[in-house]
Amino acid sequence: MGHGKLRKFAENETFRCLLQPAAEEVMSHGENKALLLKDHPIKGRWNQEMFAADQPIILELGCGKGDYTIALAERHPEMNFIGVDIKGARLWKGAKYATEKALPNVAFLRTRIEFIPAFFAPGEVAEIWLTFSDPQLKSPNSRLTSPLFLDRYRSFLAPGGIVHLKTDSRFLHEYTKAVIAANGLPVLTSGTDIYHEGLTVFAADDARLRDLAAVTEVQTFYESMFLEMGLPITYLSFTLDRPFVSSGSRNFIFPADFDEKFWREAEGPRRTFSHQRAKQ
Ligand SMILES: C[S@@+](CC[C@H](N)C(=O)[O-])C[C@H]1O[C@@H](n2cnc3c(N)ncnc32)[C@H](O)[C@@H]1O
Repeated sequence: MGHGKLRKFAENETFRCLLQPAAEEVMSHGENKALLLKDHPIKGRWNQEMFAADQPIILELGCGKGDYTIALAERHPEMNFIGVDIKGARLWKGAKYATEKALPNVAFLRTRIEFIPAFFAPGEVAEIWLTFSDPQLKSPNSRLTSPLFLDRYRSFLAPGGIVHLKTDSRFLHEYTKAVIAANGLPVLTSGTDIYHEGLTVFAADDARLRDLAAVTEVQTFYESMFLEMGLPITYLSFTLDRPFVSSGSRNFIFPADFDEKFWREAEGPRRTFSHQRAKQ
């Protein structure tokens, strides 16, 4: 590991806005050594423990360096923002900025998104942003909008809470639309090339869409690189409000009719530009 990374990891320990729990704090072994999630002490207590004011909490999952979390937080002091990522060297940048600027409404959590239900209580989160998530072309269970992840989010997203997906991946955009359709979820806004064609707003009078302008006025780190390359950026917002189906499982279901092959081919090769710049 390079000195730069070691220095960042050491500095991360000093940031009050950055929570870095060890895996053992949220994992335990059940019967047959099956791994079980257990609640972290901050679950249900983010506003009291981490923030200056008791305000709606917005998550960004896979926030990388935290640019989007920070930009939204500076734009919306009336809300609290938490960026989540597993990479400490990336989180360092956002946590350092938030610390130096003494931002009262920004926090970061270093964990795997798979463990996220261990950290948030029912209704504790008002909105979730998924920004430029890996489309996981070959691993449907790993997609951050797969039914498995939506089940996790539903355990803590407030009723009516919004999930925002902003991505360069048309594959992930279409896959998410298929999951939404299969589960009868309400779509609020959609666009497949937001900087050139704008957004279609399905619920224009919805008070929760208070800052639609942010969708195009605020860019993530990856997004700025995709924009430099002239790639279209897509966006979807939806809620998880679905009347539970009576036939068996309460869980979200996988889409039966999503044409994986077609959309994988349409996606083309994954962008490789970012490795040098994004790893820093
Ligand atoms: C392509 S980057 C996008 C970063 C940022 N959202 C942006 O747009 O600049 C995806 C980020 O998601 C994080 N990530 C991917 N899968 C994750 C997981 N299962 N748990 C935690 N973080 C994850 C990666 O570490 C990476 O920083």
